[in-house]
Amino acid sequence: MSKQRVSRRQFLNYTLTGVGGFMAAGMLMPMVRFAVDPMLKAEASGKFRATKQKVAELTSTPVRVDFEYEQKDAWYTSTVTQTAWVFKNKEGEVIALSPVCKHLGCTVNWNGDKNNENMFYCPCHGGLYHKNGKNVPGTPPLGPLDSYPTKEKDGILYLGQPEPNKYVK
Ligand code: FES
Repeated sequence: MSKQRVSRRQFLNYTLTGVGGFMAAGMLMPMVRFAVDPMLKAEASGKFRATKQKVAELTSTPVRVDFEYEQKDAWYTSTVTQTAWVFKNKEGEVIALSPVCKHLGCTVNWNGDKNNENMFYCPCHGGLYHKNGKNVPGTPPLGPLDSYPTKEKDGILYLGQPEPNKYVK
């Protein structure tokens, strides 16, 4: 058996290299995470989530569709619930609008005000939106409701993440 003694100099070299490497990794990890994060986010935003809504059952009257999915944030997993108002337009295209009011974020309802039929109404400050999500001038919201990208798979409605309304010109 060979006896290899580690000199004091070697021991110091190994120790300092190890500690230095550990510290460098600690500094590099957040930078790598920062660089990779936009890619992860882009992937998440392109994700479609299944709802329980059958596309064939949709009509020209908006219906409220709630859907849930699991969201992983590092080691923490939570259940996220989202809502959309969904209907078919004259061309039979499926339109899904976010219920989040563009004034201060309350939830809008279809036909929520009997004085303004066939409109989305925000009860917080009387915000009004047309059926395609366009805000009514003179009411508090300054922009249209966001819209969800939609997809049909096996007759079921899938929704992406809300984005600026593409139905309001
Ligand atoms: S939050 Fe909707 S009108 Fe103010």
